[in-house]
Amino acid sequence: MTTSELAAPIAGMPRIGDPAPSFTAETTQGEINFPADYLGKWVILFSHPADFTPVCTSEFMTFASMQQEFAAYHTALVGLSVDGLYSHIAWLRTIRDKISFRGMKDIEVTFPLIDDVSMRVARMYGMIMPGEDSTKAVRAVFVIDPTGTIRAIIYYPLSLGRNFDELLRVIKALQTADHFAVATPADWRPGDRVIVPPAGSCGTAEERMGGHVDGVECEDWFFCTKELPAQEVESAIRGA
Ligand code: BEZ
Repeated sequence: MTTSELAAPIAGMPRIGDPAPSFTAETTQGEINFPADYLGKWVILFSHPADFTPVCTSEFMTFASMQQEFAAYHTALVGLSVDGLYSHIAWLRTIRDKISFRGMKDIEVTFPLIDDVSMRVARMYGMIMPGEDSTKAVRAVFVIDPTGTIRAIIYYPLSLGRNFDELLRVIKALQTADHFAVATPADWRPGDRVIVPPAGSCGTAEERMGGHVDGVECEDWFFCTKELPAQEVESAIRGA
C-alpha cells in the first residue's frame, strides 16, 4: 500500500443510523460473524491501536473488569486491533499474569479480540485515521443496537484513554430513549429528568405551556422535561 493510498479519505465509512457492516473474523474467542452473531443484543465494537502498549492495556483491564456491568445492560464487548491472533493471545496472557492497574489485577479478558492484521475490518469501519497514524487504528467506539444498527460513534486519539463511565452512560441513555420514547439532556444519568419529544402541534404546545400535561414541566414550549425515577429506568433497561 502506498503512502497516498493510506492518506486517501475513507470511502463509505458507516455513520449513525447505518447497518453495521458485516464481516467474519478470527478472534481470541474463535470465529465471529458480525453483527449476525450479536443480533438481539447491544454491542460495543471498539478498536485500539496496538497490543503491548500501556494506554491500551489500561483500557482492556477496565473493559474486562466492567464486562459484567455491560452484560447487565445486555451489552457485549468486541475489541479489534491491527495485530495478529498470536500477539493478542500473548498480550492478554501478559495482562492476566503480570499487570496491575488501579487495584485491578489477575484480569482475564474473555470478550473477543479480533485479529485484523490485514486492516480489512478497521478500514471498513473507518478506524484508521492517516493523519493520526497511517497503520494503527485509533480508539474508535461503535455502539450497535439489537437490530444491528449503529447508534453512536465515538473517537479518541492514540494518547487518550477512553472514559468507561461515559460508555456505560451512552448505553443506558440510548436504551432509556428507546424504551420511554424520550431524549436525555446534557450529562444525563438515570434518575435525572428526561426531555419529552417536542410538541408537534400548536395545540400540544399550548396545552404543555398551560401546565395541563401531568408531570411535564416546560421552560418554553420546545423545552419540556419530566421525571423518570432511576428505579423505573433501571428495571426497564436491565430487565428488557
Ligand atoms: C498506548 O496504548 O499506550 C499507545 C498506543 C499507540 C500509540 C500511543 C500510545
